Amino acid sequence: MKKIIFLIIILVSKSTLSIADEGMWMPQLIQALNISDMKRNGFKLTAAQIYDINKASMKDAVVIFGGGCTAEIISNKGLILTNHHCGFSNIAALSTVQNDYLKNGYWAMNTKEELKCPGLTVTFIKQINDVTAKVLADLNPAYNENQRDSAIQVKVKQLETETKKELGFDVFIRPFFYGNEYYLFVTETYKDIRLVGTPPESIGKFGDETDNWVWPRHNADFSMFRIYADKNNKPADYSEDNVPYTPKYSFPINLKGTQKGDFTMVYGFPGRTQEYLTSYAVDLLVKQQDPIKVNLREKRLNIMDRYMKKNDTIRLMYTARYAGVANYYKKWKGEMMGLQKSNAVQKKQQLESEFLTALSANPAKKEKYTKLMGQFEKVYEDFAPLSKQYDYFTECLWGIEAFKFAANAGLTLQTELKKKQAGATNNFDGKLAEYKKSIPFKNFRKEIDRELCIALLEIYGKEIESVLRPRMLDSLYTVHNNNCVAIADFLYNNSSFVDNFKAASMFENYEKDFQLYQRDPLFLVASDVLKHYQKTTIPQMTYYEIQINELQKEYVKGLRETLKNKKFYPDANSTLRVAFGKVSDYSPKDGIHNMHYTTIDGIVEKNKTGLEDFYVKPRLIELYEKKDFGTYADKDGKLHVAFIASNHTTGGNSGSPVLNAKGELIGTNFDRNWEGTMSDIMYNGDFCRNIVLDVRFTLWIVDKYAGAGYLLNEMKLIR
Ligand code: ARG
Ligand code: GLU
Repeated sequence: MKKIIFLIIILVSKSTLSIADEGMWMPQLIQALNISDMKRNGFKLTAAQIYDINKASMKDAVVIFGGGCTAEIISNKGLILTNHHCGFSNIAALSTVQNDYLKNGYWAMNTKEELKCPGLTVTFIKQINDVTAKVLADLNPAYNENQRDSAIQVKVKQLETETKKELGFDVFIRPFFYGNEYYLFVTETYKDIRLVGTPPESIGKFGDETDNWVWPRHNADFSMFRIYADKNNKPADYSEDNVPYTPKYSFPINLKGTQKGDFTMVYGFPGRTQEYLTSYAVDLLVKQQDPIKVNLREKRLNIMDRYMKKNDTIRLMYTARYAGVANYYKKWKGEMMGLQKSNAVQKKQQLESEFLTALSANPAKKEKYTKLMGQFEKVYEDFAPLSKQYDYFTECLWGIEAFKFAANAGLTLQTELKKKQAGATNNFDGKLAEYKKSIPFKNFRKEIDRELCIALLEIYGKEIESVLRPRMLDSLYTVHNNNCVAIADFLYNNSSFVDNFKAASMFENYEKDFQLYQRDPLFLVASDVLKHYQKTTIPQMTYYEIQINELQKEYVKGLRETLKNKKFYPDANSTLRVAFGKVSDYSPKDGIHNMHYTTIDGIVEKNKTGLEDFYVKPRLIELYEKKDFGTYADKDGKLHVAFIASNHTTGGNSGSPVLNAKGELIGTNFDRNWEGTMSDIMYNGDFCRNIVLDVRFTLWIVDKYAGAGYLLNEMKLIR
């Protein structure tokens, strides 16, 4: 009897554990769904302290930073903390050869020295409302999937416009659970954002590609900005008269450190997950989609890397592109291996059969859903070859910079010129001026791209049969007897789109010699490629995607109705979410244990390898040797750099605040471990970990390394 009770306790606590760690929850539903789980795991506050529309709450200190990151407010003067890689493009844009802030870092020593960042914005979420009933009201039941889809899109647009007018704020509506629910977000965007400070790349990006997606990790991936507002604390374009924004809420910072097992919460804007895919979709992902993309990106990276190693100018030209290509290359590779290793397809099949078994008491329903699974199987069979076509377009042909540039620039100029000649409003002169300015090419070298073109066309020629290729490209294979060197020579030697000198002259004379540039071979081939995919593959894919979405909608609805004691969270869709879990270590392989934190000792160890990715400036080593860790050291006397936890996160969570049980800031989220990248498809609490920069290391860098300790005076520090 005792044994049985013990077993029950273990089973129950195990299942509540996994429930607690998996999930990206909507903040306004925490009171109803999660608060008791959270409390059981140590959370000390109320749901209203996380999200409240009447009183200040944590949500007022969590913002969308730029295009797709998260940032948090850490002072009552609008100071915000995010990742270095989130501020990267802004820091790069402010840098010159004389003042290279990427290389040297930058710290404003007073507000006057804060640097404006053109184009950078920060967005607050003011309110989240369920608008499902409004969106789905009076839909004609006789509609097919496509008609339904269009009708919903119209309704969503209309509701957005109405609400915007009514409230005077920006709004957007997003589907949740594949359109079973719809939520409206009221937002406010600030446009005067200034750089306060950043460590040098050697600290912010320490470990670079070698360490990306890897634990143990040692980079201080942070940068700081400030939100500026007009005199009424409202959004305004940049002006010298603007003042630091006074936030409704800002996070206090806890410097006491964390222990294994401590409660952690991540509040941010995760971008995209697909947790409710069927076994058919996961099978396609693991066997076809991820391998195709990984293989093509590996080819590209190897070629770029070879050139970048040879020459510093080229390294700088290609570094941002390389990082972009490398980031998801490595992510997909980890995801694919993780899903394979954990038998994700079988697990999905098991879930599907459990689901159908659970429906046994209701034969009509069981029949409906059995049929649905058959439809999934069929639809993925039809979808797979299209998905392959699409991936070979985006990752192979569009991995050739010259193709992308010739098609986009050539088509834009052609269209605008036609408008101009017809006397219609046009932007021909504006566009032409932009293209003229882009010469000489800043991020493009003909010889590298030509080599990429050869390698990628070789693969394309082998993988995509003749009848499926865009016509002009296919004729090149025929004319040149499948010799891709000859094809590349023909294109790169005869085109004006790949040559600094010829391109300058083309943009100078475009209007006059229009007819000539219409016949540029690269333009002809590349624009034919683009049109081919726009006319064939993409509309067909969309057709199937709408069908898949409808099936998923039914499937998720069925799962939610049937598996009553499981809590469901919607897939990430770049909206505000809360993930909670614990500081925890893991085992990546049998016999190996990965600790839950790293220290500055590891920076020094990695630096000693002499590898370029682990370079740091002498100043860091000097400070390390002085052991001047001040109040930033842990109880163990060491200076901790990063820690890991079991929070369910994804891309977009970069820069998110990581909070303790009392809602105090303990770190900034910046990555996941390699084994854990599969959590976008299937979370596994045993080894999926988010990687967090310890806030004590952040402040040590600000204070001791950068000498910008004055900033700490505006923060609320808990020591
Ligand atoms: N893996 C992190 C994220 O997904 C960091 C990316 C930036 N760093 C890089 N080396 N590309 O965005
Ligand atoms: N580095 C990612 C980002 O920029 C976060 C890592 C992840 O995907 O979990 O959003």
